[in-house]
Amino acid sequence: MASSQPMTATADSAGPVLLQVEDLQVEFATDEGIVRAVDGVSFEVREGEILGVVGESGSGKSVTMMSLMGLIGAQSGTVTGSVRFQDRVLHPESGREMRKIRGNQIGMVFQDPMTALNPVLKVGTQIAEAVRIHHRVSKQAAWQRAVDLLTRVGVPQPDQRADQYPHQFSGGMRQRAMIAMAIANDPLLLIADEPTTALDVTIQAQVLDLLRKAQQETGAATIFITHDLGVIAELAERVIVMYAGRIVERGSVASIFARPRHPYTIGLLSSLPSLKHDVDTLTPIPGSPPNLLQPAAGCPFEPRCVVGRGRPECAEVRPQLVEIAPGHESACHFAEDLEIIDGVPVAAGAAVSDAGTGGSDD
Ligand SMILES: Nc1ncnc2c1ncn2[C@@H]1O[C@H](COP(=O)(O)OP(=O)(O)O)[C@@H](O)[C@H]1O
Ligand SMILES: [Mg+2]
Repeated sequence: MASSQPMTATADSAGPVLLQVEDLQVEFATDEGIVRAVDGVSFEVREGEILGVVGESGSGKSVTMMSLMGLIGAQSGTVTGSVRFQDRVLHPESGREMRKIRGNQIGMVFQDPMTALNPVLKVGTQIAEAVRIHHRVSKQAAWQRAVDLLTRVGVPQPDQRADQYPHQFSGGMRQRAMIAMAIANDPLLLIADEPTTALDVTIQAQVLDLLRKAQQETGAATIFITHDLGVIAELAERVIVMYAGRIVERGSVASIFARPRHPYTIGLLSSLPSLKHDVDTLTPIPGSPPNLLQPAAGCPFEPRCVVGRGRPECAEVRPQLVEIAPGHESACHFAEDLEIIDGVPVAAGAAVSDAGTGGSDD
């Protein structure tokens, strides 16, 4: 493989694979039984790309990323699968091994910066420490680096701010400080887990801009996790859609927005206010997320699916992720036949056709 070929940074220029995850599984033993939070997830991240990961709450997005960072405690959860980062093969069941790359080659931004920042240490001290864990520099140099980083992420009066404690920062400023810490060691991969979910809408936009800028400046590949496909549309090039601990659809943002191939994704898209003429007609997906204690034999989305509900093949046979169009995969038995009529997925041709559905667009 050619090493670093000069490449123009178009959205589609796929660099070499940076992170390769194969058949990741994460289980938690609970009083009620085994919860399979991540169920055979495989994906790759290429150098410099922004990969979006979307799904409702509880779909396994955070647990997937936490297992990659070695943050699933061995006492609470069991992680299996294989992970390759650059040319290193890592064993995700060894939290210790995974933690070595955390904070250095991989930076992470969490939903709630307050849980990630230490309340009793000055913000500047925390960023400086993040630098010093991985680099042999003087305290003074590390402090100066912290101030520089705060400047870079748009914190006003960075000298004074570095000298303050997290509670003296607003939510948006704390998230900026977290981003400063995440990029402190020029990571190759940045994982941002719902970094704007806890913020006001206006601040959300600023933090998204900042993340985009940080990504462009550092060239770090970025995994951006959100429950909001609208954010994905603005930021990412490729997207993975998760449901019940599995990947149910994957492809370029362009392809998935142009023609989603899974009823769940269609449901997520229909509940986007920006794509609706009238915000009042928002249609959240009816039904509740599956019980991970008793995984279904068939498609986990079947009970909520307007296409598959009650169909024997959907209830009994687990659909695998297959390529439907170039670079676009779906785990739906009806992926080939799906059409969207008035925002609702319909399996054209596959059904005992209901009278009236003409099958044409609009
Ligand atoms: N420590 C744990 N013990 C038991 N279940 C857990 C634990 N952590 C997460 N889970 C379960 O794993 C599933 C996936 O969680 P998570 O990855 O946080 O979802 P998401 O980030 O997509 O909202 C959820 O059903 C959650 O309740
Ligand atoms: Mg989460």
